[in-house]
Order: sequence, then C-alpha cells, then structure tokens
Amino acid sequence: MKWAVLVGGTGSNLHALLEQGIAVSLVVSHREGVGALGIARDYHVPVEVITAKTYPDRAQYDQALRYALQKYQIDAIAMAGFLRWLTPATIDVYGGRILNIHPSLLPAFPGLNAIEQAYRYGVRWTGVTVHFVDEGKDTGPVVAQLPIRIDPGDSMATVEERVHHAEHRLYPKVVEAMDKGWVALGHDGKIQWQVSQEEVAKWVSGLYSA
Ligand code: GAR
Repeated sequence: MKWAVLVGGTGSNLHALLEQGIAVSLVVSHREGVGALGIARDYHVPVEVITAKTYPDRAQYDQALRYALQKYQIDAIAMAGFLRWLTPATIDVYGGRILNIHPSLLPAFPGLNAIEQAYRYGVRWTGVTVHFVDEGKDTGPVVAQLPIRIDPGDSMATVEERVHHAEHRLYPKVVEAMDKGWVALGHDGKIQWQVSQEEVAKWVSGLYSA
C-alpha cells in the first residue's frame, strides 16, 4: 500500500510511522514551515504544502488535495496532525482507507486541543484513539485506543508527554495492521478483522503491555 500522511504540526507521529517502516509515498501539510516537513525531507519523502489561503473554499482545497494524492497513486491515508475536516468528496474516493489519530479517548473530547480539554475537565483517564475517518467530526469507527492516567498534581506538560508517547506506540501498529490487511472498514461501517479472534486478542494485549 502506498501511504500519504497528512500533517500540520511537529510531525512526531509521521516520524513514528516512518521508523516503523511504513511505505510513506507522500506527505501533505496544510501549513508551511512545520516540523513535519523537515522530517519528511530527512526521510526523502516527497512533500506537498497545500495551504487554505490559496483556495476560496473547502471543496477546492480538497480538490487540490485529491489531485496530489492521485498524482502519487496513494492507496491509503494516515492523518497525523492535519487539522482540517475532509470533504465528503474526498471521503468518497478514499472511503474506508483513511485513518486518523486523535489525542483523547473518543467520543470524549473531539475537536481541537483535546489534551487540554481533558486536563481542564479533570478526568482521571484520557488517552489516544485511532479511528477510520467518516463525514463526522472525530466520529468514525474506532480501531484501537490506549488509555492514559491523569493523577492529581500532574502538569499538563506531563500529560501531553504521556499522550504523545502513547500515540507513537499505537499509530504505527494500527497503520501496519491496515497495511497488512489485518483490519479494514466493512461496507456496513464496522471494523472487520481479517485475522482470528485469538490473533486480535494477542495484538490488542501487545498494545497494552508494551
Ligand atoms: C497529535 O497529538 C495528534 O493526535 C493531533 O495533533 C498532534 C500532531 O502531532 N491531532 C488532532 O488533534 C486531530 N484532532 P505531531 O505533528 O507531532 O504528530
């Protein structure tokens, strides 16, 4: 599978995916000058910077995005800090082949600044979620999650560090599982595991014990 990683931030998840050996054929950033672009260049991955200011609306933005994805014959997409909602036209084309990582235990704390939202709310557990992208906002079917404890007295910086650490453990594993065809999104919109129940259980317990 040829993967595109959509970014917009420091690129630590992109880095984790590249270190896992995922075949990243394209990195698209919605922002100029972000750390993720430097990481892509270090790994000799082609980059396209597509900024919103160049396009009058979301439809035309996404048209440019699809053009870039088609140019590189991309099969699957991993969103990693790309802080834009994809349009239905893009989801139609890549439906069931778009993953996103979100820094909370969805459906809690969707949207921006999820770590801060959870911290300020005062929850004792938060975490990270990898899900398939649908037309909703952080609503797509969940593939896997990792929980993170927040203890009284933890600073937000500590929680952020834990969340990012969990992201870097979880995302490469899920992308790899999809890449190998172990997990897919069924036509019924439900997660389908193509491996045995025992193997899924082993895979999940591997995530928790690492
Ligand atoms: C990650 O924490 C990711 O979960 C978050 O952006 C960060 C990107 O960091 N995404 C969202 O909040 C999406 N709603 P990175 O550039 O270091 O990978």
